[in-house]
Amino acid sequence: MNQTDAKSSAGPVVRFREVSKIIGGKTLVDNLTLDVQPGEVFGFLGPNGAGKTTTIRMLVGLISMSTGDIQICGKSITTDFENAIESVGAIVENPELYSYMSGYGNLMQYARMRSNVSKERIDEVVAFVGLTERIQDKVRTYSLGMRQRLGVAQAILHRPKLLILDEPTNGLDPQGIRELRDYLRALAHKEGTAVFVSSHLLTEMELMCDRVAIIQNGKLIEVQKVQGDTGEGTEKTEVEVEFEVGDAAIAVQKLGAGEAKGGHLVIRIEHSDIAKINARLVEAGIPVSGIRVLKRSLEDQFLEVTGGVKS
Ligand SMILES: Nc1ncnc2c1ncn2[C@@H]1O[C@H](COP(=O)(O)OP(=O)(O)OP(=O)(O)O)[C@@H](O)[C@H]1O
Ligand SMILES: [Mg+2]
Repeated sequence: MNQTDAKSSAGPVVRFREVSKIIGGKTLVDNLTLDVQPGEVFGFLGPNGAGKTTTIRMLVGLISMSTGDIQICGKSITTDFENAIESVGAIVENPELYSYMSGYGNLMQYARMRSNVSKERIDEVVAFVGLTERIQDKVRTYSLGMRQRLGVAQAILHRPKLLILDEPTNGLDPQGIRELRDYLRALAHKEGTAVFVSSHLLTEMELMCDRVAIIQNGKLIEVQKVQGDTGEGTEKTEVEVEFEVGDAAIAVQKLGAGEAKGGHLVIRIEHSDIAKINARLVEAGIPVSGIRVLKRSLEDQFLEVTGGVKS
């Protein structure tokens, strides 16, 4: 049992149940049902206008749902909002910061509105997001990346079970994106926080998240596990190759990967390699009677929903 499984026994942190948002006869979010587990970085991936921000606005209670319900740690945001929102830290669009105050001043201000935030906790989160050196400076002197870090520090100050970030990497440089990714993953995997993060960038989501949901036109298309940045690369297309039973062992050997069962071989390859694999088998004297795509990679699906425009 891995860490995520162990923690999930406590039940999902977020439960979307048939959530829709309709404005002026237009369905912006369409019957969304989804669970987010403790200790996972969950990506909400979709092109511009897919409904990510609308979903997040409903999740934090900034706008109401037209139908359905969302539960946070088992508490309904419709009927038990105060208790549900207690478990949440969020940055929706831009972090809300006072630029005339220091970073520390902002955190102190926020801490006063919450119970149980000690000075030690403030120092801990400042160190966690790497702002110790600049925390006494006025926020107006901060770069975009530093504001983002301060926003995250503020959002996690009260140890929320759920951290929600809407497109947090917007405007960050590659180094900033990497650091954000590292501390979001640490927060999830070491502290068990569920991190719900949206983006329109596939590559970024694949590196940052444990699972990714693809959303388009307000509809959930697919939820997939991804490898994160410690795995051996991105999710691949899974194909089933059919041929004569006796050749299975040879086929596996020729391809160097896969799992042979009777006359079937299931392999995970790049979608673009399907023709090449077929040619290699034929070359090796193994007649292929069929190739069937079992599971498309996240990239294949995302390219399909975005009409082939790569992030
Ligand atoms: N208040 C509103 N009234 C009417 N339509 C709205 C409203 N807010 C959002 N929309 C529409 O809902 C759709 C989803 O918008 P949303 O902001 O949720 O998308 P998004 O996935 O966050 O996109 P982006 O990647 O550009 O941030 C868009 O078509 C948008 O024009
Ligand atoms: Mg948005």
